[in-house]
Amino acid sequence: MIDWVTGPSLKSFSETQLSSIQGLFKNETGEHYIPDTIRALPIPIWKGNLILVDEDSPTDIYGVFWCLRFNEKRARVVAFVINKNFQNQGFGSRAWDLFVMYARTLFISEIQLEVRANNQRAIEFYQRRGLKIIGKLENYYSSGLGYVMQGKI
Ligand SMILES: CC(C)(COP(=O)(O)OP(=O)(O)OC[C@H]1O[C@@H](n2cnc3c(N)ncnc32)[C@H](O)[C@@H]1OP(=O)(O)O)[C@@H](O)C(=O)NCCC(=O)NCCS
Repeated sequence: MIDWVTGPSLKSFSETQLSSIQGLFKNETGEHYIPDTIRALPIPIWKGNLILVDEDSPTDIYGVFWCLRFNEKRARVVAFVINKNFQNQGFGSRAWDLFVMYARTLFISEIQLEVRANNQRAIEFYQRRGLKIIGKLENYYSSGLGYVMQGKI
C-alpha cells in the first residue's frame, strides 16, 4: 500500500534514494537539484517531513512534502512533489491535511511557500486551501517568475 510516512533526516538518505528524489524534482517540476543540495535542506524529523512510499518497497520514494518552521506561528513548505503516476489520486491533499492537523497542535497558524508562476494547477491547489499570492520572485526559479503564497491554516 502506498502512503505518506514521516521521513528520516535528509542526511541519512542513500545515494539511490537521493537520485530518485532528484528525478522526482526534475521530472515533475523541471528543477535540477544536486544530491548535496537536497541533503543539506534543514528539514527536521516531524510531520512536516513526509515521504510517499510503498510499504512493500520503502526505499522507492514517490513523493515528498518537506516543510520547516519559519517562525513561531508560520511554517514554510520547501518542497512538495508527487510522481506523475500518483498525482490526481488525493495524495497531495492527504499530505496537506496531515500537516495542517499537526501544525495546528503546535499553534502554527500560517503557511508560506514559493511556486512557479506558470504552475497554475499548484497555485489553484493552494488557493483552494486558503493561500493567496503575496509577492513575486524574479530570480528564484531557473524557469522564470515565481510567486510567494501565504495563508492561514
Ligand atoms: C501539486 C501536487 C503536489 C498536488 O498533489 P495531487 O496528489 O496531484 O493532488 P490531489 O490528487 O490531492 O488533488 C488536488 C486537487 O487538484 C484537482 N486536480 C486534479 N487534477 C487536476 C488537473 N489536471 N487540473 C486541475 N486540477 C486538478 C483535484 O480535483 C483536487 O481538487 P481539490 O483541491 O478541490 O481537492 C502534485 O500534483 C504535484 O506533485 N505536481 C507537480 C509538482 C508541483 O507542481 N508541486 C508544487 C510545487 S510548489
